[in-house]
Amino acid sequence: MHKRNRLFITAALIYALLGGLVALTRLAAPDLLPGNVPRIHAHMMLLGFMLQFIYGIALHVLPRFSGYPLYSERMANWQLYAANIGLPIMLAGWFSWNNLLVGIGGAISYAAIAMFAVNILLTVKARAPGR
Ligand code: HEM
Ligand code: HEM
Repeated sequence: MHKRNRLFITAALIYALLGGLVALTRLAAPDLLPGNVPRIHAHMMLLGFMLQFIYGIALHVLPRFSGYPLYSERMANWQLYAANIGLPIMLAGWFSWNNLLVGIGGAISYAAIAMFAVNILLTVKARAPGR
């Protein structure tokens, strides 16, 4: 497996563990963590765990299923950076009730989703036989 795809899986599992800890902390000591804690938990689990797990698996499996190499390894590397820079900025924004930070992090996370979409679509696109 490509190192980048392994990093996506590793990041996903780290987010799952941290996101679960955030929720358990919230239950055990409701006032301990500052900010919009349910939203932090939700996006650690959904954007951090679920989506990055999908990124890692899809970037590995879909080129093999389609029979063509990934359209751009470089774009997928940038996707890894964007996903893991964007989400921490979003989380920092929610921890500090700062919607500007959430917006900046959100735009970077969105760039990761957009790169993923373009890369996967160009990888699995219909081609004439033999091309
Ligand atoms: C370790 C396992 C988990 C625990 C202990 C846990 C616990 C919780 C708790 C206590 C809340 C309510 C927070 C509050 O309103 O104060 C919550 C909300 C939520 N959880 Fe989890 N959860 C877990 C795993 C997950 C996973 C795996 C996902 C998604 C993949 C998830 C998605 C959500 C979402 C979307 C909400 C709603 C957030 C909101 O109301 O804004 N959780 N969880
Ligand atoms: C570019 C990425 C994303 C951004 C910028 C973003 C931003 C936001 C914001 C600002 C809210 C609050 C909405 C409101 O209160 O009016 C929200 C809520 C929510 N988002 Fe996201 N989101 C993103 C990706 C996702 C993804 C990929 C999922 C699911 C797979 C998701 C699931 C949810 C859920 C379940 C809620 C409502 C629960 C909560 O209050 O936390 N989001 N999101």
